[in-house]
Amino acid sequence: MAKTVVLGFIALNVFCTAFAFGPIPLQDFCVADLTSSTRVNGLPCKDPATVQANDFFFSGLHVPGNTTNPFGTALTPVTVTQVPGLNTLGLSIARLDFAPSGFLPPHTHPRATEIVAVLEGSLEVGFVTTNPGYRHLSKVLEKGDVFVVPLGLVHYQRNVGSGNTVAIAALNGQNPGIIAVPSAVFGADPAINSDYLAKAFLLDKKTVEELQAKF
Ligand SMILES: *[C@@H]1O[C@H](CO)[C@@H](O)[C@H](O)[C@H]1NC(C)=O
Repeated sequence: MAKTVVLGFIALNVFCTAFAFGPIPLQDFCVADLTSSTRVNGLPCKDPATVQANDFFFSGLHVPGNTTNPFGTALTPVTVTQVPGLNTLGLSIARLDFAPSGFLPPHTHPRATEIVAVLEGSLEVGFVTTNPGYRHLSKVLEKGDVFVVPLGLVHYQRNVGSGNTVAIAALNGQNPGIIAVPSAVFGADPAINSDYLAKAFLLDKKTVEELQAKF
């Protein structure tokens, strides 16, 4: 009896693990039909007979992004939007360029874990845990260093070197999503009630309204 329960528990765990992030594809691929108006979880598939090599192809990650912006940072994503062949495969990649002092604000990817590799420069990467709560784990990455940001956790990157920093990030989602915390909180449209935000952030209402005007 006890043995059966244990085996059942193991079977349940194997089952749950295998399906935690979507099943293995049921076909070779499902190249996204970006023109279809059908709404599914993901994107509908093109007729496989019409699929071309270019559906799996992107060129340009060797090109530095334009960092002339308030963040001093450029993100060049290669997700299902750029490469329709990534649809249903749970994978994407991006190039990150940081000018000196460039950064990405605290953000999360709701649908993917991230692994980031620095190709050039010095990049501080950190994330905050939920259990135990609010531990801040961070590293300064140099050329060749790799760091992992677990699924959904709030994290940030900032260039701490004197020159440009270049990194490649891979994510286990074809559409990982990005929620920038400052914009989500202070830039929501329509705005979140400023009295409420003042209480939540231990700020006065005027400061909250200034932040809301900026975002
Ligand atoms: C980079 O972006 C800035 C601001 O949008 C723009 O003025 C500039 O022309 C861009 N540079 C290049 C090389 O595209």
